[in-house]
Amino acid sequence: MLGKDKMLIMGGKPLMGEITVSGGKNTAVAVIPATLLSDEPSTIENLPDIEDVHALIEILNHLGVKTEYVPDQYLRVYPATLRDCNVPFDFTKRLRASYYLLGALLGRGGRAEVAYPGGCEIGSRPIDQHLKGFVALGATIEDRGGLVCARADRLTGADVFFDMVTVGATVNVMLAAARAQGTTVIYNAAKEPHIVDLANFLNSMGARIKGAGTDIIRITGRPSLHGTTYTVIPDQIETGTLMIAAAATRGDVTIHGCIPTHMESLTAKLLEMGVRVTQSDDSIRVRPQYEQRAVNIKTQVYPGFPTDLQQPMTALLCMANGTSTVCETIFEQRFKHLDELRRMGARIKLVDRTVLIEGVHEMYGAPVTVTDLRAGAALVVAGLMAKGITEIYETGYIDRGYERIEDKLCSLGADIRRETL
Ligand code: EPZ
Repeated sequence: MLGKDKMLIMGGKPLMGEITVSGGKNTAVAVIPATLLSDEPSTIENLPDIEDVHALIEILNHLGVKTEYVPDQYLRVYPATLRDCNVPFDFTKRLRASYYLLGALLGRGGRAEVAYPGGCEIGSRPIDQHLKGFVALGATIEDRGGLVCARADRLTGADVFFDMVTVGATVNVMLAAARAQGTTVIYNAAKEPHIVDLANFLNSMGARIKGAGTDIIRITGRPSLHGTTYTVIPDQIETGTLMIAAAATRGDVTIHGCIPTHMESLTAKLLEMGVRVTQSDDSIRVRPQYEQRAVNIKTQVYPGFPTDLQQPMTALLCMANGTSTVCETIFEQRFKHLDELRRMGARIKLVDRTVLIEGVHEMYGAPVTVTDLRAGAALVVAGLMAKGITEIYETGYIDRGYERIEDKLCSLGADIRRETL
């Protein structure tokens, strides 16, 4: 049961006004483990106040690491008190990014024991590329009943060529390589904004990382790293979700504190639909045009259309004028939101990994259940569009990745409230 309450949305109200986006979830879950690569304290600002951050702080405390956390202000980590390297399933089942502790603990002291992760059920999500990277650096890997045990007397820089572009494995190898002896070159590296943010964070600790944001990243290992104070970038996916919600309600919303260049693939698609999108250097404004045209979407690694926005975008396209297609190329099972959207009147068919969406003139509120984080975002968007009341169950998934999403939407005029079950 991932939610002790339900969310009630009275749809049909256009979102109007200005909002500031929170710090990035996927950058936060990479940067927090990275603090363990030094014995000195580090301070991280602009962290989103979300379950994934809380879970990671609990993992650090479980390892003996002292922390000072003031939500929406800062997290201070004191790694010198670390006394353990074992992260049991009780913790890892709460967030997939717990596997970044493998790279951080291996990079810090050559030993890590982390239970296979949990996280959103959107596909098989193996970690073979992560392990391949660790072995290339000289680690030995043993699977002890669901516990990944990684050991290395000394990590040595090496070339790592990923079989596919993988954000998680790119992060994990960067963490393990930052203090390895010699230079590591990652080929076919992920280029997401949070990869660049992690590289900037590590470099602010004294690491030597070049090329983040391209598909070749060079890491010259350092014998030790110092503490730092760092502000993480805004959340690309929350920004996109708010843009989609504005378009879905034909509202007029300005999103502040974002990085428009991170949003280009979504902006291009909204413009293609006929939505008016304008931007400054740190804000994006979304306004309606007349009809919203159907479009075709294909998820790709960055800078392509993000898989994390596939689900909320599918909800928006349910009421576009015409037939849209959404092809999900990254995760083979990222479609559990379709049944729930159908309950709200959407006309959707899934053929292999492509969703065929026939735009309808009206959707109506219904009781729906969240199955994963971004499916939750899709159902919130659909609830804002639909006529009547939508009841959203299993809201805990949404709280993993969005900081008080209903407060943000209510400040823009949405009618959303939570009721304890
Ligand atoms: C990260 O997941 C994000 N999570 C996901 O966001 C995001 O959808 C995904 O990257 C793609 O951008 C975090 O950053 C915490 P991958 P990750 O490794 O690292 C396959 C959200 O909603 N693969 O880039 O798990 C894998 O199965 C979450 O915020 C292997 O085969 O994604 C997938 O098909 C959901 N072997 C593809 O690569 C491996 O060793 C991309 O996965 C690793 C990955």
